[in-house]
Amino acid sequence: MSKDLHFEIDRDHFRERLLKYTRKAFSLLPGLDKPRILDVGCGSGVPTLELAKLSKGEVVGLDIDQSLLDELNRKIELEGLSNSVTARKCSMFEMDFPDESFDIIWAEGPISAIGFERGLREWRRLLKPGGFLVVHDVTNNMKDKIKKIPSSGYKLLNRFSLPEDAHWTEYYRPLEIRIEELRARYKNNPEFLQILRKHQNEVDVVKGNPRKYSSAFYIMQKTSRSIDPKF
Ligand SMILES: C[S@@+](CC[C@H](N)C(=O)[O-])C[C@H]1O[C@@H](n2cnc3c(N)ncnc32)[C@H](O)[C@@H]1O
Repeated sequence: MSKDLHFEIDRDHFRERLLKYTRKAFSLLPGLDKPRILDVGCGSGVPTLELAKLSKGEVVGLDIDQSLLDELNRKIELEGLSNSVTARKCSMFEMDFPDESFDIIWAEGPISAIGFERGLREWRRLLKPGGFLVVHDVTNNMKDKIKKIPSSGYKLLNRFSLPEDAHWTEYYRPLEIRIEELRARYKNNPEFLQILRKHQNEVDVVKGNPRKYSSAFYIMQKTSRSIDPKF
């Protein structure tokens, strides 16, 4: 995408509106001294950078999309956080960190790619004893997900749902307004209009049924009970 248009759309600006929920989830964890955090599926790192600031610890942001990691690296540099945040290109299916590497694993959005139960089970080995897993996921099958938590080797410490229309009112609708503004500004630029159409298509999916995208945070703690990682 044209760099200029990318900066003008500035989707991270809208993503930042949802950071209040990241902060709320973090506040539900017990205080940890300079924790080591893995942010799985970090994207361009809006929560990643916030976690570094909130925790004063070390954060590894992991994603498969290099263009998003480039964006994260740009922001790490800009905010002077290169001592505490690193961006790593890797699939969540191939994480080869040693066992018990992290105090906290954070995952906002990506667990649906691996599945809730499989994610919990496979990521567990990466947590130190008594470490924490925070997952932000769509609300569907919530009862079933909650039932799977103990057998996957965790205790559910807390959970909360976002307001049902939060993703629409706080992210997609403001983004749509920005797209409308840019469409008017670039009405004679077919290349930009095509890019804007792609963004609008994504907005339209949510617009059609905003409640389908309601979501919740699960705050979990690794328990000592041994589990069979295969299921
Ligand atoms: C909904 S976005 C969330 C981004 C970020 N956590 C946030 O809250 O702004 C999901 C992210 O998961 C990443 N992702 C999808 N499949 C992945 C995989 N197999 N391994 C690592 N990251 C993946 C995508 O590239 C995307 O950045």
